[in-house]
Amino acid sequence: MTPPTAGRIRHPRAQHQFLGRTCSITGVGSYVPARVLTNADLEKMVETTDQWITTRTGIKERRLAADNEFTSDMATEAARRALQNAGVPAEAVDLIIVCTITPDMPFPATACLVQARIGARRAAAFDLEAACSGFLYGLEVGQQFVTSRTCDTVLVIGAEKLSSIIDWTDRNTCVLFGDGAGAVVLQHRPHSHGLLTTVMGADGSRADALCMPGGGSRCPATAQSVAARLHYLRMDGRETFKNAVTAMHKAAQAALDRCGLRVEDLSCIIPHQANRRIIDAVAERLGARPDQVFVNLDRYGNTSAASVVIALDEAVQAGRIRKGDLVMLVAFGAGLTWAAAIVEW
Ligand code: UT7
Repeated sequence: MTPPTAGRIRHPRAQHQFLGRTCSITGVGSYVPARVLTNADLEKMVETTDQWITTRTGIKERRLAADNEFTSDMATEAARRALQNAGVPAEAVDLIIVCTITPDMPFPATACLVQARIGARRAAAFDLEAACSGFLYGLEVGQQFVTSRTCDTVLVIGAEKLSSIIDWTDRNTCVLFGDGAGAVVLQHRPHSHGLLTTVMGADGSRADALCMPGGGSRCPATAQSVAARLHYLRMDGRETFKNAVTAMHKAAQAALDRCGLRVEDLSCIIPHQANRRIIDAVAERLGARPDQVFVNLDRYGNTSAASVVIALDEAVQAGRIRKGDLVMLVAFGAGLTWAAAIVEW
């Protein structure tokens, strides 16, 4: 069978030594916790309004994990759903990558906890941290294991319990974030191009724009660090916004150029769900039509590494993505980091 897009796209991976071994997403799944926190709820917690949050961000509500529900729990549920969707037993998984900035513990890796919970006895497991770009970084790392024939089946999971690092007294940040998880199964699928290209980047000189100062080797937890509220996420919103628009646009355009594609060739664009105004600005710069862009941040807010993969799962379930479609994934986050990928579904 000839791939549906044969002859239309330039496959950047064809230049690699791995020619012939492509990597496809063969299953996707997601999980969001049941508890809903609305803008009206937040109005009672900090000096804010539904109107401010809606017009400045597009967010109406977000999900919060229960007190006894952790990143590994959400990652496990998303992984089970992705494996079921792919029709793959957990015993077949060779590698688990959990992309997160809110692991259950600094170590061991949350991926190891997921490995035990789903019963993926054969799988190696590690965490990857690239903040909101984490899932796309993980996708690229995972596909390298498949195309190099090191692994046959890789689980890439984006999972976050951001509510555990949010300062619920800081209106600048507490209205923006939510909890959740998404997962994909990566495998070689004959007669499919799969993941065509990934463009990744970082700018560590702007690390201070979005960070959690405490809890690492620079500032271990002490009574003073807790009192100074250093174990919460901090963000320079305007600086982050500006960089997000520029970096996401550039990465997306570079990915299109590498594949010899135009934006009209994309059936669906799935951007990181941080702010509706960022998404609209990136879409406008790319020349994308509004109906090409998938948005669900009104219901979940920013779930960092989980955001793109939760949206991908919902877009597939809603019938917005069909076999042979070309899909763009694009993200930006702390680091600063950014990434864009194009996938033939
Ligand atoms: O996932 C990683 C990437 N993260 C992002 O991409 C987030 C990027 N940044 C943003 O989305 C936006 O910058 C925010 C939504 C965080 C803020 O929107 P903004 O339009 O950049 O607002 P601002 O920071 O310039 O603040 C405008 C005003 C300020 O008041 P003053 O100083 O002008 O009097 C803020 O104090 O809005 C005030 N403000 C609020 N007012 C009501 C900030 N947060 C709130 C709030 N409710 N929750």
